[in-house]
Amino acid sequence: MTKKITIAIDGFSSTGKSTIAKLIANKYNYIYVDTGAMYRAVTMYAIDNKLISNDFFKIEELKNSLSKISLLFKYNIDLGFAEMYLNNVNVEKEIRTLSVSKLVSKVAEISEVRKKLVAEQQQMGIDGGIVMDGRDIGTVVFPEADLKLFMTASADKRATRRYKELIDRGDKVNYEEILFNVQERDRIDSTREDSPLLKADDAIEFDNSDMGIQEQFERICTLIDNRLS
Ligand code: DC
Repeated sequence: MTKKITIAIDGFSSTGKSTIAKLIANKYNYIYVDTGAMYRAVTMYAIDNKLISNDFFKIEELKNSLSKISLLFKYNIDLGFAEMYLNNVNVEKEIRTLSVSKLVSKVAEISEVRKKLVAEQQQMGIDGGIVMDGRDIGTVVFPEADLKLFMTASADKRATRRYKELIDRGDKVNYEEILFNVQERDRIDSTREDSPLLKADDAIEFDNSDMGIQEQFERICTLIDNRLS
């Protein structure tokens, strides 16, 4: 049987983690899990149930509701990746809106939320052959991962990428707002008490501010092939 390894990709928001992860998963026929989508789906549940807004956050109520939140990735053959379902409803598009992005870091700070999602992520990776991206994959979810990558890029480059993505989708956003959101999420994600965004000691850092996708992909494939041989 061919060896199947576990690949952890962590890093700041909009560093292209998911683009790289999808390419790797398709090439090696691995499962790809976007853990940010899971935190975003819990945030959507909280928004829909009036547990969070820009002005309030009913933390205890959200903690008590966690058992009612079911998250599922379903593979979409036309798109070539799995879409996020929240309580059996496809929320793949809604979870990427700026209104969710603005609140998700607050939800991701809650230890009970993290505990639930980390347990589900560990279960998904139990047989290896997985590439998972997020903030705590190499440090908390799979500390024994065979390959750990840590992606960075300047806040300005990341905000520009995110801005283009949202504009291409038809969302009405302004660049300053996106840049502020990127910087604010960096701050909350890196300074939270439970599982802050940290580079694992054994992670390989990629600053892709000026590196194209193809170059990154080729370098990463070499790292993977070394571990498979
Ligand atoms: O990767 P993303 O931007 O879609 O993630 C959304 C938010 O979820 C991000 O601001 C931090 C949080 N997150 C986390 O705390 N831990 C993860 N493993 C993945 C995401």
